[in-house]
Amino acid sequence: MHENTLPENPVRRGFLKKASAVMIGALAGLIPGLAGLFVFLDPLRRKSHASGSVLVASLNALPEDGMPRKFSVIASHTDAWTRMPEVPIGAVYLRRTGEKTVQAFNVVCPHAGCFVDFKPDQKSYHCPCHHSAFALDGLIKDSKSPSPRGLDELKVEIRNNSEIWVEFQNFQAGNAAKIPIS
Ligand code: FES
Repeated sequence: MHENTLPENPVRRGFLKKASAVMIGALAGLIPGLAGLFVFLDPLRRKSHASGSVLVASLNALPEDGMPRKFSVIASHTDAWTRMPEVPIGAVYLRRTGEKTVQAFNVVCPHAGCFVDFKPDQKSYHCPCHHSAFALDGLIKDSKSPSPRGLDELKVEIRNNSEIWVEFQNFQAGNAAKIPIS
C-alpha cells in the first residue's frame, strides 16, 4: 500500500452509501413533482389566439360596387387552460374601397350591442333596436341616432393578393370612445 493512501474505513463507506441513497431517492421524488408543476403552470404562459388576425373571406367574395357583405368570424380560441376548436367569435361587414382595399366593421351597434342590418335600398346600416343609422363608411348618418359613435372599424390586411384578414375586436357599448374589450 502507498504510504499516502488512507486505509478504507467501513463505517465511513456505509455512511456515504446511505447518504447517496437518500439523495437519489429525494431527487427521484422531486423530478416528477417539478414536471407536474411545469405542466400545471404551462397554460398560464399561453396567449389567446382570438385577439390576432383571422382569415375571414376572399376578395372575390366582395362586389366591386362597394356594397358590404356580412361574414362570420371563426377562430380557434385558447384561454389559460383549454384550446377550443374553431368557433364563431363574432361577425363583420366587409366592403371594397378599392381594387385591393377593404373596410371592415364589427356588426355590433355601439349604442347597446344589437346587431346592425344593412339596407341596400338606403345604402346604409340600420340598428333594429333603437334605430341608429350609419352610412356606408360607418359614420353616424342620422343625427337622431342614439349611438354615441359610428360603427367600429377593424384593421384589415390583404394577404396573398386575395385573402382578407381582419383583426377582430369587440368594443365597449354606450361610450363615445372606442374602448376595446379584452
Ligand atoms: S342598440 Fe343599436 S341603436 Fe340601440
